[in-house]
Amino acid sequence: MSDDNTSTPYGRFRQTTVYTTGMLTGETPEIPPAYEALKQRAAEELEGEAYDYVAGGAGSESTKHHNRVAFGDYRIVPRVMRDTAERDLSVEVFGQSFDVPVLLAPIGAQGILHEDGDLASARAAARLNMPYVCSTQSSEPLEDVAEELGDTPKWFQLYWSEDRELTESLVHRAEDSGYDALVVTLDTPHLGWRERDVSRGFLPFLAGDGIANYASDPVFRDRLAQPPEENEQAAAQEFVEVFSNPSLTWPDLDWLAGQTDLPIVCKGILHPDDAEQAVEHGADGVVVSNHGGRQVDGEVAALRQLPTIARRIGGDATLIFDSGIRRGADAVKALALGADAVMLGRPYAYGLGIDGEDGVHEVLENFLADFDLTVALTGHDTAGELDRDVLVEA
Ligand code: FNR
Repeated sequence: MSDDNTSTPYGRFRQTTVYTTGMLTGETPEIPPAYEALKQRAAEELEGEAYDYVAGGAGSESTKHHNRVAFGDYRIVPRVMRDTAERDLSVEVFGQSFDVPVLLAPIGAQGILHEDGDLASARAAARLNMPYVCSTQSSEPLEDVAEELGDTPKWFQLYWSEDRELTESLVHRAEDSGYDALVVTLDTPHLGWRERDVSRGFLPFLAGDGIANYASDPVFRDRLAQPPEENEQAAAQEFVEVFSNPSLTWPDLDWLAGQTDLPIVCKGILHPDDAEQAVEHGADGVVVSNHGGRQVDGEVAALRQLPTIARRIGGDATLIFDSGIRRGADAVKALALGADAVMLGRPYAYGLGIDGEDGVHEVLENFLADFDLTVALTGHDTAGELDRDVLVEA
């Protein structure tokens, strides 16, 4: 829980703060608590290309839409007269205690949203001791992001480069800077066809944002004729060359597992057979995700696949859910369907775009308050005990 919030439940604390401030001073919260209004505000305040980079999805964006629709397939059935005065939302993941079962999803190129980029988001996560996943495409080097996070749980998300030595180097840098797990994103061997970005001819990496981990990497620098500081354009072009390795197959995961002692989490899994393969080839966890609908148009909603994957590998691996989490009730549903934790993506990116570190912090505070109250109002006092009995099909 936050520094200033040590003994009060998230929900009650936030409600008291906003209602008291509102009634005494007439001030309303800086950041809209409703996701739709948050998004609208971000649309008003950000440059069009930055907003579209976050908001956009692959093709017609039907996947993004269906990610949300899928949450409507389940309704919560609260229980009453159960003591919920005190809540413990903590969960244990890979032997580490998380105060809340909510991680900040890896989001690249945050520098297009705010000048402090990932550093601002990491500071906000640290203020609430919320686990943060640093992207390979972070706009600041992973070492600097780790420093901002301090003792806050931190995972590093790896885009597996075509250059094996570069991949190894990134993994070892993550280990050296104290990251607690490695998230390997497997759904991006190619960048999806994102019509908004294509229409604008906009890719942040080519403008030099989101390639800090490459520019600061000795293996990557060795590939360049001139250092990135002298020729940014050439560095950006080289990044495009090495960014991904579309030839990977499952045995490659064994190789990666052999490179590190960190737990490995495979992100971007939608088929139960793939979940099983991931575990067989060394993964300790899986993120059920369709990348927020940014990769494949017409794709299955991530939530729809969660129960089947939970049945297949639930006891054998940690299960994280991502893609479409907007409010507390969404997290409750995902946990009830078998996830151990969820990732929050676009909402915090909008908070960053609106007001930097404080914007992210407020989005997170609102989210946790909503989640805490929803858990309590379902008649539960721990996040871990949410199960299928909490839900009915709509
Ligand atoms: C992402 N996502 C992502 N995933 C990843 O593994 N590495 C990355 O660098 C990025 N970068 C990124 C940038 C932006 C602007 C967005 C919106 C998303 C995907 C992210 O981790 C997560 O899967 C989605 O955000 C989940 O969808 P929702 O819930 O945000 O809609």
